[in-house]
Amino acid sequence: MHKKIKEIKSNESPPKVIKNLFNKNEINDFLKLYEQLPTTVHNKKQNVIKKRWLIEYGKDLENLFYQRVKNEIGDFKYDNLKTESGNIIYGLFQESYNPIGLHIDGGFNFEDLIYKQTLIPLTPVGSTVIFKNRYYGQSTNFTIDQNELNVKKLNYGQNKRSNAHIGLYGDKPFSSVDHKKYLNHEKIDNLVGLEIDMVYEWELGSMLVFDRTNLHCSSSKIDGKKIGLTTFTKK
Ligand SMILES: [Fe+2]
Repeated sequence: MHKKIKEIKSNESPPKVIKNLFNKNEINDFLKLYEQLPTTVHNKKQNVIKKRWLIEYGKDLENLFYQRVKNEIGDFKYDNLKTESGNIIYGLFQESYNPIGLHIDGGFNFEDLIYKQTLIPLTPVGSTVIFKNRYYGQSTNFTIDQNELNVKKLNYGQNKRSNAHIGLYGDKPFSSVDHKKYLNHEKIDNLVGLEIDMVYEWELGSMLVFDRTNLHCSSSKIDGKKIGLTTFTKK
């Protein structure tokens, strides 16, 4: 569990969408940067490509990005793990062909004062579901799939697997209407006690900001593939 829970909670706020934060050219610059970056992970089974925004790339864009984010959330530090040589990473580009399951991005250091995370869509179709429910542990994938729960060998920066969310938020079954509408890819029993706070419909130029403690996942809405840029912050 995080140690600075009191401070973490005092910084919490509802998820927020900022529209028209980036213009078309800026979105294209992010996409160009994405093309240039080396691939970090290509998981063929899950059909996902991950690229880290390394400090040697897109310096001007980083200045602009940092200022725009700071304007919305105030002072922050990047908290996107580190490279092998200890350099910071500005963000994580993710190209996915399947929806991402229920999880939390709490980080890996319980001494940290985790803060907000941002999501910038770089393709027009997609949506992200933010739940009202919060969790104060490390980065975790929440699942009731026994095979997943058996995965214990984790690489640096990989989310732990857990069913600790079951029962934590009561035993009220998840809304079957919301399940059909947004979350077909999740077992409804994996969503027990959860309540949707916001469904963010991806829109180019906009940015979603939410707390690192919010449970979230992709919705089932996907059109081929989607690319997003995520950044985790701490104070
Ligand atoms: Fe996430």
